[in-house]
Amino acid sequence: MDLIVARNREDLVKARRAGTVALVPTMGALHEGHRSLIRQARVRADQVVVSVFVNPLQFSPNEDFSRYPRTFDADLDVCREEGVAAVFHPAPEDMYAPDRQVSVSSGEMGRIVEGAARPGHFDGVLTVVLKLFHLVRPDLAVFGQKDAQQLALIRRMVADLDLPIEILGAPTVREPDGLALSSRNRFLSADDRRVALALSRALRAGAAQLTAAEIRETARAVLDEAGPDLDLDYLALVDPATFAEVGENHVGMAVLAVAARVGATRLIDNVTLTLNTP
Ligand code: PAJ
Repeated sequence: MDLIVARNREDLVKARRAGTVALVPTMGALHEGHRSLIRQARVRADQVVVSVFVNPLQFSPNEDFSRYPRTFDADLDVCREEGVAAVFHPAPEDMYAPDRQVSVSSGEMGRIVEGAARPGHFDGVLTVVLKLFHLVRPDLAVFGQKDAQQLALIRRMVADLDLPIEILGAPTVREPDGLALSSRNRFLSADDRRVALALSRALRAGAAQLTAAEIRETARAVLDEAGPDLDLDYLALVDPATFAEVGENHVGMAVLAVAARVGATRLIDNVTLTLNTP
């Protein structure tokens, strides 16, 4: 079947077939990480819809909205190859009326860790994702663990607002050397890329430790070794569901998350790990 490009709600209604629908929300510039989400969606649903929309609401004025890569024709090829039924690609002016008033608040959980570094970001993410849910009306939606706090907040939104949608998390796809795939990696020079490897290296070194203190200390030491070309934003060891920092005696699952600027590019990464009794 031919790939359908839907621009609005009417196109989406026409594209809909009988059976279950999975949504994979993206901002385009699709890579292997996005492909893995699409494949997971295909296993679980009869029809997969991929949205491609660079959401202005989740970028603050000093961020890279205008510079964000836009590769729509290549994205369509990826979706064709992966057996996607429809790509939803709305125009910004159709998504956001100039006089719009109401949006989703991500609460306190949206203002910590990544949310502290990017004020308003998660409100923008949740607002667009809720709109996409209403427009596409999927039975399930797939999000990457790469954006662990985003995934946790989407699960929180689904629970708090009683959305009838199943949320699936997908593991982070990495380059062979450990760098997490990201649409922003294309902005890294060869030198930047070498420096950027410290993120995944620090997470791996941290994950090999047993206690919260050892994990924080070991990961921090690896990031420090990278020198001044790596501008660390945060290193956080948090509860996977709430993103609150875990205490020194925490036992069980935790997320070790890092954000740093390398050159002009801001990168994030994380691993899920299990803490044992000290
Ligand atoms: P974007 O950065 O395009 O990511 C789309 C989806 O792909 C997200 O769920 C993200 O976690 C996942 N993803 C990105 N890199 C990945 C990797 N290396 N491995 C596995 N999955 C990966 O996240 C967004 O867009 C936006 O915030 C969005 C949810 C679309 C709302 O605008």
